Amino acid sequence: MTTAMPDLTHHTAVVTGATGGMGRMIALALINAGAHVVTIARNPARADALRAHVGKEGEHRLDIIPGDLSRREDLCAAAQIIEDRYEQIHILVNNAGAHFADHRVSPDGIEMHIALDYLAAYGLMTRLDTPLRRGRARIVNVASDTLNDTRRVKLVGKPRPATLDLTQVDDLADLNPQEGFVPFEAYARAKLMTVTGGYALTRSFTPDGVTLNAVHPGVVATDIIDDLVPAPLRPFGAIIRRTMLTPADGAETALRIATDPRFAGVTGHYFNRGVAAATPPISHDLATQQKLLTLSKAHFAR
Ligand SMILES: NC(=O)c1ccc[n+]([C@@H]2O[C@H](COP(=O)([O-])OP(=O)(O)OC[C@H]3O[C@@H](n4cnc5c(N)ncnc54)[C@H](OP(=O)(O)O)[C@@H]3O)[C@@H](O)[C@H]2O)c1
Repeated sequence: MTTAMPDLTHHTAVVTGATGGMGRMIALALINAGAHVVTIARNPARADALRAHVGKEGEHRLDIIPGDLSRREDLCAAAQIIEDRYEQIHILVNNAGAHFADHRVSPDGIEMHIALDYLAAYGLMTRLDTPLRRGRARIVNVASDTLNDTRRVKLVGKPRPATLDLTQVDDLADLNPQEGFVPFEAYARAKLMTVTGGYALTRSFTPDGVTLNAVHPGVVATDIIDDLVPAPLRPFGAIIRRTMLTPADGAETALRIATDPRFAGVTGHYFNRGVAAATPPISHDLATQQKLLTLSKAHFAR
């Protein structure tokens, strides 16, 4: 399946995680449609590989800014460069993400799923507020349906949604603590936070014509899968990958929401492969949304 892309000449798109997996397919599709794509990459060799992939014809439409999105300092510096270079942003795809098999903490003291899978998206949405509003941007946050079901193996029992209780939390550094750490649940909680914070930010963006949606791309054969496949199944990794979507297919949902004229003005939704779907009730709880925004703002105010 391939989205018929509109002409995106004169459009600026910020796409994170464009050095691999689905993000690379999203960036290439946008460049091929005429957009100017900006990304933030932590690994120079992977950045060079992306440039080579784009090739001579598209390289003037690709801007790679160095930075590690899990670090507050890097994210803020990259956002400032983007704001200085681009008056308007028309598309923002917060796609970068990872699953960490053990408990890790960012240089800012934040558990890594929260730092990368949630705060990077929140940080770019808020730090790029002005060019996003000027461009009446479409924002797409790549979440994961693990937020609706944290079971690794879905054969037995009922779906077990991710949980998020901020009532006793005074600092994002308190979330996903080492004690009782379950990697898949920690990943799913960060994605639930992305959706929850997104619902809250949608309300402030709507008056300026900015839309904000989250997507689950499907189960896609990318590098992240190596971490997500349970250890006993890893010897069958190659076979399992063949049952999954390709990165190009996985990119379709985000691309459609970001560019398809039929999604113009559509906002505040979570799409599971293009179909609007529910998210856990806590994501719609106004007190939780507000607390999350307050904690996130405090993180970036340090
Ligand atoms: N694959 C699936 O089945 C699936 C399902 C649901 C949701 N998702 C979500 O889809 C998104 C894309 O994942 P993918 O499957 O395409 O995974 P992937 O192939 O592992 O790609 C992840 C991308 O994020 C970048 N990234 C990771 N950590 C970063 C950091 N600290 N700073 C800057 N960039 C960083 C990676 O850059 P490097 O090149 O430097 O590693 C890479 O470009 C993620 O948000 C993931 O959670 C995936």
